[in-house]
Parts: sequence; C-alpha cells; structure tokens
Amino acid sequence: MVQSHFKKVAFILFSLAILGMLIGYVPEKASADAEEENDVEKVAHRGAAGYAPENTMAAFDKAVEMDSDYIELDVQMSKDGELVVIHDITVDRTTDGSGRVGDLTYDELRKLDAGSWYGEAFKGEHLPTLGEVLDAYEGDMKFLIELKSPSLYPGIEEKVNDALEKRDLDEAEEESVIVQSFDFHSMQMFHKINDEVPIGVLTSNPKDLTAQSLEIFKEYADYVNPSKDEVDRDLVNQIHELDMGIMPWTVRAKEDVQPLLDAGVDGIITDYPDYIPED
Ligand code: G3P
Ligand code: CA
Repeated sequence: MVQSHFKKVAFILFSLAILGMLIGYVPEKASADAEEENDVEKVAHRGAAGYAPENTMAAFDKAVEMDSDYIELDVQMSKDGELVVIHDITVDRTTDGSGRVGDLTYDELRKLDAGSWYGEAFKGEHLPTLGEVLDAYEGDMKFLIELKSPSLYPGIEEKVNDALEKRDLDEAEEESVIVQSFDFHSMQMFHKINDEVPIGVLTSNPKDLTAQSLEIFKEYADYVNPSKDEVDRDLVNQIHELDMGIMPWTVRAKEDVQPLLDAGVDGIITDYPDYIPED
C-alpha cells in the first residue's frame, strides 16, 4: 500500500518535472525565433512606393503607418542648388512637367504635381526637399539616403552632409542615417567629408561582389546593398565577416522575403513594407 502510494507520488513528481521542462523550453524557442525576425530592418523604398507615389510625403507617411524602420529616398539637386527628392534624372515620369531636374529651379520643381500620375487621390503632392523630409520624420524614422547620379551635381556630397550636420544627424546613434549610392567615387568623397556617417554602396553587378571588391568597399563603406538577385547565405557571411551590413533591393513580391531572411540579411528594401514580418 505504502509502496503504491510512493509510486504515485514519484509519477506525479516526474510528470511535473517533464511539464516544467516543456514550459521552460517553449518560450525560449519562441523568443529565439522572434529575435531572428526582429533583427531585420524594414526599409520603405522611395517611401512605401507600392501604395503611394514614390518619393512624396504621402509615400513617406505610408512608410510610417506601416511601421517601417527606414525611409529610402533619392536625392538630386535643382539648377539653383536645392536638394530635391526624386528618382529619375528628368521629371517626366513622375510629375506633370518635363525636363531634367538639374535644368529646373527649385521654384519650377516645387510647382509640379508629383501625385496625379499615380492616382487622382494624390493630386497636389509635390517634390519634397531633403530638409523637409528630415524635419518631418526625424525621431520617428531612420533615413537611407541615396545620392542619385551625383556626378551630375558637383558638390552634392557637401550639401547633403550640411543638411545632416545642421540637424545633428551626422552623429546620430544607431545608424539613423545611412548615405548610399551606385557611384562609389561619390561615396568615397562623402566618407572623406564626414567619416561619422555610415556609407552604403549599391550594385547589381556580380563583379562588385567578389572577395577583392568587398575588401575595397570595406575601406570606406559600412553597407554593401546589392540587387536581391545577387544575394545568398555565402555573400551575406562574407560581408558580415568584413564587419559590414547588407540590405538588398527591391522586394516587390511576398515570396522574395523569406529567402532573404533565411540568408541572414540586415535589412530589406521594399515597395511593400507590410510584406516584412512584424517585430
Ligand atoms: O535603395 C536601393 C534602390 O533604391 C536602388 O535602386 O533605382 O530604386 O534607386 P533605385
Ligand atoms: Ca533609390
């Protein structure tokens, strides 16, 4: 009788121990998975360009609404030296005007409608200035600033750095601002002007992703941001081993997200920030 009672108690204690182990185990595993998801920066390409006209305040507002970490934006310069946010080197595709950005004054650019081409609901959106975007979202968002065709705009690196310095964003912690370009010479110049600002190099050319090229980037860059089609686990590891980060572009299909997460990228640049799993 006593022996059977003892067996029952032993069984209950054993079961409780197993249960305890299971309870202890599940949250630990779940938190490890969540941690992996949390690490990826959600970068809203040209704002959330899948939902609003690219590089407008409406697109940047959408990026905020979708809990993005970074706004990606393209910066060029007007004829009279204002830093304006627009992707193409002409205004033809994304406004109701025509001509080259660098041939138009800021007043002329400001009058253009940058929303109607996308949809009637966005009529009246204008081309923002870099300063306007920084002032509107500083503190809420981080900025991935692309210098677009900087060789067309001599001095643009100094001007962008001035805009950052004026707002103390050049010394901001946690990489609140990253400056990137396809023009490596421009990025080297920027690094010389201010080595506090993290630099990214953009490429879709596999020749820029050899071990030798990555070593050269390491001299002035903090990020190597390739086309998503060039990314695999091995490339991510090589870039991480050189202590740089990698944020591929441009995700426009949901099924492109998971392979990039599996490869271990640091951020995903996408027109659809809501495709990236929540923190
Ligand atoms: O941020 C990377 C991506 O924006 C590069 O391509 O043409 O969209 O500026 P593009
Ligand atoms: Ca861009």
